[in-house]
Amino acid sequence: MLKSTVPGVHRERRLRLLTSAPDACFIFFGAQEIVRSNSTHFPFRQDSDFLYLTGFDEPGAILVLVGGKSHLFLLERDETREIWDGERYGLDRARSVFGVDETHPVHEFHSRLDTLLTDATSIRTTLGWDPERDQSLLKTLHGASRFRGKGRFGHLPVQSPLPELSELRSIKDEVELGLIRKACKATTKAHAEVLRKVRSGMTEFDAFIEFQYTLLRQGCSELGYGPIFASGFNATTLHYTRNNEVLKEGDLFLIDAAGECEGYTADLTQTFPVSRQFQPAQARVYEQVLSVNREITAMIKPGVSYRELHSRSVECLTESLLSLGVLEGDAKELVLTGAYRKYYPHGVGHYLGLDVHDAGIYHERGQDFLLKPGMVLTNEPGLYFRESGPYFGIGVRIEDDILVTNSGSEVLTAGLPRTVAEIESVRSGGVWS
Ligand code: GLY
Ligand code: MN
Ligand code: MN
Repeated sequence: MLKSTVPGVHRERRLRLLTSAPDACFIFFGAQEIVRSNSTHFPFRQDSDFLYLTGFDEPGAILVLVGGKSHLFLLERDETREIWDGERYGLDRARSVFGVDETHPVHEFHSRLDTLLTDATSIRTTLGWDPERDQSLLKTLHGASRFRGKGRFGHLPVQSPLPELSELRSIKDEVELGLIRKACKATTKAHAEVLRKVRSGMTEFDAFIEFQYTLLRQGCSELGYGPIFASGFNATTLHYTRNNEVLKEGDLFLIDAAGECEGYTADLTQTFPVSRQFQPAQARVYEQVLSVNREITAMIKPGVSYRELHSRSVECLTESLLSLGVLEGDAKELVLTGAYRKYYPHGVGHYLGLDVHDAGIYHERGQDFLLKPGMVLTNEPGLYFRESGPYFGIGVRIEDDILVTNSGSEVLTAGLPRTVAEIESVRSGGVWS
């Protein structure tokens, strides 16, 4: 069982979702095990929506929310399978541990659906991820008299549950914030260790091992996304994942990696020199990116939109490219023509939580969604130079995780050396606490 499973919290989340569409029947499919090769599987990771609503972390389960009640369909206990795969909750224990109203064997899902739909006026489920699952659900629905329209509604409409659920998931409750804080703290500590210990001659992978060792010892169970340990030119590849080159004096090292605690991930990037000091051109780029990171952090508060944050980062980084002598011309014109995109091709951030690119709405029908207290987002400006010139091969990103509070914001990844002077001091053996 996940350590922080609090049945009341998950029940409360389910009730809030049901309140958003009281006559709907919500159907959520948990993740299945995925074959890695032959008879082995990838480590199981529960579907994030399912985890959010149940805390239940066994494969192959289904959750139905209808008529104010929660029905969890799950695998029954099986002595033989449990010898191989480990203990299952089983129907009775799952009902009390996860606070659901009813539990049923998962193989009964299709035969019970018609009855569950009796009073529903719509079906909310996510189609499009798994064609086989969609086929099987649609086949069952077509066999269900309620779906086919014995009532006055005709065929029950099938809609996505994601608009309501994304909005709920974007505001973190105290249990979620506790786990995000834990992931951020462990991640910050692991980055600090790497910053202190990495030397030329080691490989990107050696740094990753060091990082992972600290991260897991600090209480994270795994990494929250594919780690990026990119030295030299590799840092200009946004999602570099080979992570196997030798670190060379004079190169920068960009590390974008973070840990996950009970499903909740941090997302942190630091960039530092493999040598004790930055080269002058590297320091110039680094300082520009850091100043944008700081300006964006200062803007984050309730009522601001993601679009405003991103637009400001574009304006600032365009000014940076002008002051670095990379672009020439009028800043406003350069923003309009998108000249910065070659050097800053990504957004300034994203929501963060159960997924690294988390659920949450940025805009709807042309209207920007405004930040609210309890949202967590990243702030990650960067500049990347892939073409010949004075900054060739430099890639810098500085990424923090920020909680929107009632009065402004809190940087959850605070505490790392971030200025050029602070980083050079640690790289030269200085103590950082
Ligand atoms: N680590 C993925 C990202 O920063 O969005
Ligand atoms: Mn990010
Ligand atoms: Mn990142």
